[in-house]
Amino acid sequence: MPLPHTPTAPHFTTADAPGALPLLGHTLAFLRRPYAFVAGLAAHGDLVRLRLGPLEAYVVCHPELVRTLLTDDRTFDKGGVILDKAREVMGQGLATCPAAAHRRQRRMLQPAFQRGRLPGYAALMSEEIDATTAPWSEGDVIDVPAAMYRLTTAVTARCLFAAHERAGELPVHRCMDEISRGVARRMMLPLPGVDRLPTPGNLRFRHARRDMTEVTRRLIADYRADGTDHHDLLSMLLGALDENGRGLTDPEIHDQVVTFLLAGMETTAATLSWAWTLLAANPAVRERLHSELDTVLDGRRARHEDLPHLPLTARVVSETLRLYPVAWLLSRTVTTGTELAGRHLPAGTTLLFSPHLLHRRADLYPCPDRFDPDRWLTITRPAPGTYLPFGLGARRCIGDAFGTAEACLALATIASRWTLTPTPGRPVRPARRASMTPRPFTATLARRVR
Ligand code: HEM
Repeated sequence: MPLPHTPTAPHFTTADAPGALPLLGHTLAFLRRPYAFVAGLAAHGDLVRLRLGPLEAYVVCHPELVRTLLTDDRTFDKGGVILDKAREVMGQGLATCPAAAHRRQRRMLQPAFQRGRLPGYAALMSEEIDATTAPWSEGDVIDVPAAMYRLTTAVTARCLFAAHERAGELPVHRCMDEISRGVARRMMLPLPGVDRLPTPGNLRFRHARRDMTEVTRRLIADYRADGTDHHDLLSMLLGALDENGRGLTDPEIHDQVVTFLLAGMETTAATLSWAWTLLAANPAVRERLHSELDTVLDGRRARHEDLPHLPLTARVVSETLRLYPVAWLLSRTVTTGTELAGRHLPAGTTLLFSPHLLHRRADLYPCPDRFDPDRWLTITRPAPGTYLPFGLGARRCIGDAFGTAEACLALATIASRWTLTPTPGRPVRPARRASMTPRPFTATLARRVR
């Protein structure tokens, strides 16, 4: 069934976002309420121009136009001032390299994420989920986003460096936490020079980057010396060859490791944290989820072969990603003058698109703000450009199946054993970040009696 439908748009509309202030443009409105501001732009047109200080950008609001944007990665390449900040840590890794370098890299790295490798990763994921939650006990109050971040760090580190017996104990968690905070700060404040000041935050960021480089350098050297295939992501990176039989250099492998960690840890952790808030606020769905888990798992940890038998768990994850797509605002840059929605866009124009904006369009999703996992019973294949938690086209997330499996396994294992009740207070809101992560919140653990 072709739902959610794409509205027919014989003529796309273009507009300027209202309310620009002299010099600042829309900066204040954006910084004050970024999510509401961006979602509200769809009401003004299909392609909406805005100004963030000196930066002029177009927000692509219509799914058809977003599809055009994402399926022509040579005209609409990765780039622009925000991406430059991410490049400082991910270098020329898969997520940040330009289209010219992307084809080669993607071909080399795709085998690491082939469906056939998923059961192997899932086995490691299940073990790490069990180990990370083993110390939990009745009545504990946990910081949910921090606990989920620890869990996804342990999982991603283990899938990258399975040969390292205590992958979870590497300083990856500390370094990546600091690095991802630093990147987020820099992306929200892309002013030149500020990141070079010797502020405590900048110094911590620099030290974390240095330590992370050292950790990966040592691991790469150990793996190269050892020479065995450990069936993990690092072994895959070391064995990857391009069409000329050339492998990746050590600095290239370092960039890919940091890319996988940055792209994979926070996204899945935030998705899980949002899922807990949504389940707590919707007890009827939670009851049904518990009943599915009791039937299939009966208290044991979830494994890869359980996934086809956990359809409600999968729908909860899909619906969580619709309401809270972690990569909520993404950018592209025009490489050669082109036209979009009838408007000429010169080379260098910055374009933004927002899965959050698209997912909250009432013409695509009836009652868009309602958490309704069952809407996914009828939406089997969303129309292109309407559901983009993992992006679309050549730059679509390479870890989509990996991240989805990880979220489903963690949700299933934890929800089958524990109920998380958020501490009463203000509703959990997204932090004002480049990624839609929840602000810190706590929850009390209660062991479930089946
Ligand atoms: C729920 C979890 C995840 C979400 C919501 C997510 C979201 C996304 C999105 C939206 C993009 C496209 C960005 C763009 O078009 O500019 C992307 C790209 C990417 N993601 Fe994910 N991701 C997740 C998990 C993962 C995991 C687990 C990994 C790796 C282990 C990963 C690695 C990457 C990489 C390397 C790219 C760049 C792909 C390319 O340009 O070829 N992601 N992700």
